[in-house]
Amino acid sequence: MKGIILAGGLGTRLYPLTKSISKQLLPIYDKPMIYYSLSVLMLAGIREVLIITTSRDIQIFQDLLGDGSHLGMSFDYKVQEEPNGLAQAFIIGEDFIGSSSVALILGDNLFYGSDFGNKVYNSAKLTTGCKIFGCFVNDPKNYGVVEVDDSNNVTSIEEKPEEPKSSLAVPGLYFFDNKVVKIAKQVQPSKRGELEITSIIEAYMNSRDLKIEVLGRGLTWLDTGTHESLLEASNFVETVQKRQGLFIACLEEIAYRRGYINERDLYHIAQPICSTAYGQYLLDIVRKGGRL
Ligand code: TTP
Repeated sequence: MKGIILAGGLGTRLYPLTKSISKQLLPIYDKPMIYYSLSVLMLAGIREVLIITTSRDIQIFQDLLGDGSHLGMSFDYKVQEEPNGLAQAFIIGEDFIGSSSVALILGDNLFYGSDFGNKVYNSAKLTTGCKIFGCFVNDPKNYGVVEVDDSNNVTSIEEKPEEPKSSLAVPGLYFFDNKVVKIAKQVQPSKRGELEITSIIEAYMNSRDLKIEVLGRGLTWLDTGTHESLLEASNFVETVQKRQGLFIACLEEIAYRRGYINERDLYHIAQPICSTAYGQYLLDIVRKGGRL
């Protein structure tokens, strides 16, 4: 399976912060926002990732993440000229996807919770159909909202409904088989002029090819599109990291624990930044030979 991070958009709700820079490059506590979504794809065992962003920001993402080889990963980059909707990712990413299945994650989503790595790792084994997640939220109007029956089948999905039928929102992480490219090309723009991901999910639902996993209380899902939620996410990461001494979304740690890089590689990454808490954290992993 390959992965796409959608890191374009205008970020208007974060003006003036985003007037000259992508939202996904802003800090969530101690790391750029895109680290959090990239870490999820890495946890899923996905090693080929396409980062889609604006023509304005693409160079900065390339400066930040390079070709991924230092992490034992491979990164490609493509531009989305206008924020025409999430479903456009599969049209822009058609050549990259090739004949593979694909995961899509939004660059402003943060996931954290016990066993989440295993959940996404298992999800990435998908070869047919579509897999989404469901999370309970108290403001479902702002999200794609699903209704689920007693057998855990999705019976409806609506994008930002005026009157939500449930409080189960679909977070910005989706797994698809290769049919998604063809389906995305058939999607018509919605009333708000966007190619909606919900239209794609609906197509899978109608062909009984859709699976949902409801994430319970043990999983934290945050999106970070407003000043308030950006600060909340930073505070959350600080609280967890301070308390546990374990970092969230430390890409080099994940690469090491997944076996993509070795202790030597980790040391060489950590050494030049050893005056930072991040560098010290990596050196500590080397010192302990990976033991927690
Ligand atoms: P949104 O938060 O819906 O849009 P935005 O980031 O432009 O912010 P605002 O509403 O404040 O203007 O987007 C969710 C995520 O998806 C975010 O990471 C940006 C990304 N995105 C794209 O990359 N391309 C798109 O066409 C859209 C709609 C979103």
